[in-house]
Amino acid sequence: MKKLALLLLLPMAATAGELEQGQAIAAEFKGELMQTLKSAIANGGPVNGISVCNSAAAPLAETVGQRHGVTLGRVGTRTRSPANEPQPWQVELLAAVEQNPQPQLLEIDKRQLYAEPLLIQKPCLACHGDPKPEVKAALDQYYPHDQATGYALGDLRGVLWVELGKVAQ
Ligand code: HEC
Repeated sequence: MKKLALLLLLPMAATAGELEQGQAIAAEFKGELMQTLKSAIANGGPVNGISVCNSAAAPLAETVGQRHGVTLGRVGTRTRSPANEPQPWQVELLAAVEQNPQPQLLEIDKRQLYAEPLLIQKPCLACHGDPKPEVKAALDQYYPHDQATGYALGDLRGVLWVELGKVAQ
């Protein structure tokens, strides 16, 4: 009985806490990734940024995830790296955030998720808008199947997700 009462009382408090927790972890990842990207671009322009982003994003997601005991990552509305091709649950995730482009909590495929939209901002355009020829050439070299250009300011570029846990059933 006691357990049941707790289960009935907890959801609202837990939900507010989880949204904040997800948001904080996402902010940490975004902050550290932007820092890395900015210094790489300052040191060698967008072409240098590509090689850093290419090797830095996934390991950074892992480091930040381990720090908090969660998994997290980015998934794009169109894909640059074949390694980031959306899995079936991520296709659902993209659709949900496209419909409601807000930070939110979702349950998909027994995953308890925090998700937020990644919108195209000015600095993103160098590599996801209409890239200059030298940037385009470097992108072609790393990503022969790149589909992640042609975005405009404010477009939904993808979703940043944090898996906070599994849904108990
Ligand atoms: C210096 C070039 C560069 C800039 C600037 C840049 N990106 Fe990227 N982006 C890349 C590269 C390269 C990849 C592929 C990374 C990989 O191999 O995992 C990528 C991948 C992504 C992905 C993962 C999905 C996919 O297509 O592989 C998302 C989401 C994304 N970028 C969003 C953004 C956003 C939002 C911004 C601006 C805040 C931004 N990027 C700025 C180069 C860039």
